[in-house]
Amino acid sequence: MIVTIDGPAGAGKSSIAKIAAERLGFAFLDTGALYRAVTLGAIRSQVDFDNPEEVIQYANGAVVQWNADRVLLGGEDVSDQIRTPPVTDAIHFLADLPEVRTRLSELQREITVGRDVVTEGRDQGSEVFPNAECKIFLTASAEERAKRRHQQLAEMGRPLPIEDILKAQDGRDEKDRSRPMGALRPADDAVIIDSDGMDTSTVLDKVLEIIEAKRKTLEG
Ligand code: DC
Repeated sequence: MIVTIDGPAGAGKSSIAKIAAERLGFAFLDTGALYRAVTLGAIRSQVDFDNPEEVIQYANGAVVQWNADRVLLGGEDVSDQIRTPPVTDAIHFLADLPEVRTRLSELQREITVGRDVVTEGRDQGSEVFPNAECKIFLTASAEERAKRRHQQLAEMGRPLPIEDILKAQDGRDEKDRSRPMGALRPADDAVIIDSDGMDTSTVLDKVLEIIEAKRKTLEG
């Protein structure tokens, strides 16, 4: 069974998808981590981001692997190194290119072959797994997402003004929504959860309820 969870940055997809997968005994796939790993590699290799041919060539040759919840680049575990502002800022150079998306979408499908998986990203239900048995679109207002991020950063000892977070988030939302292939959007058959005002455990309960209901209908 494939469960897709798509939604904008900061909606809490990753943590929800991960816990839901654990509870169900499913594998978990963070597709943003794959985009991040290739972007990190391109930065390290000093790829010219203004030259799409060079970016595509790099992405085609990059060896990216997913192992449980870790991402490997050329065999090196880069799960921590991919979560830095330079990587976040450069991802769109790769994510906007259909050739890169096609390669990473193929990788995502290969990873899920023969497994029960909860996969999260932007285009999982709409483009990568159009036949997924259960599709969820997890969203929240821009203000709420920025507020949660603000709190998260403050807890990590890295407080940032909420206005700055909101501005950067708006920029990412716009890029994610407007790319020609793999744009952020709910699949026609996705269940939409607006998590404004909900805490993590309420969202998790809702997500598990939706998945269980789908499972029951599949089992007949
Ligand atoms: O989920 P995340 O914030 O780690 O994703 C980082 C970026 O990767 C996101 O802004 C757009 C891109 N991405 C994508 O284009 N398609 C996906 N399925 C997942 C992520």
